[in-house]
Amino acid sequence: MAEQEIAVKDLSEADARVELERLATLLAEANTAYHTEDAPEMPDAEYDRLKRRNAEIEARFPALKRADSPSEQVGAPVADGFAKVRHEVRMMSLSNAFEDDDITSFDQSIRRYLGLSDRDPLAYTAEPKIDGLSLSLRYENGKLVQAATRGDGATGENVTANARTIDDIPETLSGAPEVLEVRGEVYMSHADFADLNERQAAKGAKTFANPRNAAAGSLRQLDANITKDRPLRFFAYSWGALSAPLADTQIGAIQRLQELGFQTNPLTERCDGPADMIAHYKSIEEQRATLGYDIDGVVYKVDDLGYQSRLGFRSTTPRWAIAHKFPAELAWTRLEAIDIQVGRTGALSPVARLTPVTVGGVVVSNATLHNEDYIAGRDANGAPIRGGKDIRVGDWVQVYRAGDVIPKVADVDLDKRPDGAQPYEFPKLCPECGSEAIREEGDAVRRCSGGLICPAQAVEKLKHFVSRAAFDIEGLGAKQVEQFYNDGWIKEPADIFTLKDRYGSGLQQLKNREGWGEKSAQNLFDAIDEKRTIPLGRLIFSLGIRHVGEVVANLLARSYGTWDAFQSAIDAAHDPEGEAWVGLIGIDGIGTVVANSLVHSFAQEAERASIDRLVAHLTVQEAERPRTEGSPVAGKTVVFTGTLERMTRAEAKARAESLGAKVSGSVSAKTDLLVAGPGAGSKETKARDLGVEIIDEDGWFKLIEGA
Ligand code: IVH
Repeated sequence: MAEQEIAVKDLSEADARVELERLATLLAEANTAYHTEDAPEMPDAEYDRLKRRNAEIEARFPALKRADSPSEQVGAPVADGFAKVRHEVRMMSLSNAFEDDDITSFDQSIRRYLGLSDRDPLAYTAEPKIDGLSLSLRYENGKLVQAATRGDGATGENVTANARTIDDIPETLSGAPEVLEVRGEVYMSHADFADLNERQAAKGAKTFANPRNAAAGSLRQLDANITKDRPLRFFAYSWGALSAPLADTQIGAIQRLQELGFQTNPLTERCDGPADMIAHYKSIEEQRATLGYDIDGVVYKVDDLGYQSRLGFRSTTPRWAIAHKFPAELAWTRLEAIDIQVGRTGALSPVARLTPVTVGGVVVSNATLHNEDYIAGRDANGAPIRGGKDIRVGDWVQVYRAGDVIPKVADVDLDKRPDGAQPYEFPKLCPECGSEAIREEGDAVRRCSGGLICPAQAVEKLKHFVSRAAFDIEGLGAKQVEQFYNDGWIKEPADIFTLKDRYGSGLQQLKNREGWGEKSAQNLFDAIDEKRTIPLGRLIFSLGIRHVGEVVANLLARSYGTWDAFQSAIDAAHDPEGEAWVGLIGIDGIGTVVANSLVHSFAQEAERASIDRLVAHLTVQEAERPRTEGSPVAGKTVVFTGTLERMTRAEAKARAESLGAKVSGSVSAKTDLLVAGPGAGSKETKARDLGVEIIDEDGWFKLIEGA
């Protein structure tokens, strides 16, 4: 099967869509086999490979990411790369309740199990259910010796180095039992999540859909240095193996964990019975929007630990606890209008303007309507979406918030459709500039073909140009360029560099503009001057060419070295038979989609002229080319596998490539060297079989020392 697969970089958008669907199906089947039927059909390595392939395709075509994307699924087998840890005491999940009545039944069934009458006292604890990921911390003689994720409950991933970077996790405990496994939830606060996403976006790096994903993605980093920079927190709420009991009651044990130095949730309370529990649930629900972190329900636990041990466990859940989930954050409201926003690359995005409505404590008045097909209720092939219901202005629509992302429209109520509501006609012309808006085959997105004559594209391009990972000019952010654009002072990037000549003196001075003074104007001119010298990679990224993100831009820079070499290569790559084209798509990490996009942009007269005007004002710094002289790995094919401790995968790859090596993801007869860290597995076996030279990470550093 693997032999027939097309390399990710060579996939067309249409192929990618089909492939993502295939992977979603395969992985879902494998998941079911693994989790519910307890009979894995797919070897772990193959599972991991398919999952990685899925993630790579999603990274290349973010717009194609499916609603049921395998990358969003939890409870997957442990990923390759972390060592596995077998939990001494299984990590359980919780059964769910949705209605108040379920809580009364829960209390009843426990009483029956324990043989208690309705009059016997039976207390519970009630605490928020934190929306993060669970972690088990093992302390031996008061020292943190291991941290593991839940994984499938029996076996998790060893993330000790990562856990040590979290402030809420103590390195040592005093007065703890000899063996103590503390369990709890790793999570990220709303404020830290927003901050992280902003930093990620500025770097052109992946942003996260919600705090839970951000927390999971941050904890499960192969390089603990990355985790260190991520603001993770931890609430302790449970325990695994213990050499001595913590207390007689759940509330007492939580108190003890707090005394040992753990954060425990301040909304944890002891309740006397269902009425009390439901009252506390309501109170937590009311505070939900202002807690500053995501919770998705309330967990009740039998307080008496003697009762807990009598009650015990079902196959995956304790009998003595239950999660009372909050209803999904959904609300119905009226769709007042549909607006079309035009992005940097010309994509027309439909935005629902709604009668303001509160969804989970937040007032929502805009939501995304995804794309043209979503509104029509059918995809490009006419297959129905949401039962084939179209959405019309005036309709009652259901909106929801998934984590902290932009709200989405989820459904429409046809019974409430006003008479005379007309099907929505998606514009075929760009609403900003009137150019034709075109939909290419296999693309759900319609795009304005106006290029730079489109004011929306021009402004978005300017915002991108000044963003942090691009020119990053102090004092010239998105707001300022937009104002300058509207006033006609800056129409394109080149204009930034002539601003001083045009508005630095004379009648129309910058310092006389509202919001600017002598000093701030001077600071801006200085900041602009500072960026007249720019690294090649940054320049390429800042042009805002579709599919050319930071990583691709740097690859191009390293391959071509200078602006002149780069631009002449792209011009020459116009000929698909020519050497330049082959050279371009021959760069590791550059596929035909990127290549076509570059060639296309450079061939557009207006866009090209604008780029030339810009470059005329700049001194472009040469990029460091891969050094091959004196390099022990020049021209060799190297594979990295297992856990690397002294560098990230990305670093390892970059370093090897800068030394002229080719880095491959799989071992074959062409492999010259395998660098294997702990947990290497099948690649190491294969390399050994093929007689490939194998070294460890330290060996690698020794090899490239001084190169
Ligand atoms: S107790 C044996 N308490 O919810 C009992 N779990 O859906 C183990 N969770 O895997 C869980 N907040 O990751 C417990 N206050 C809380 C929790 C909590 C969040 C998570 C935990 C668990 C999942 C089950």
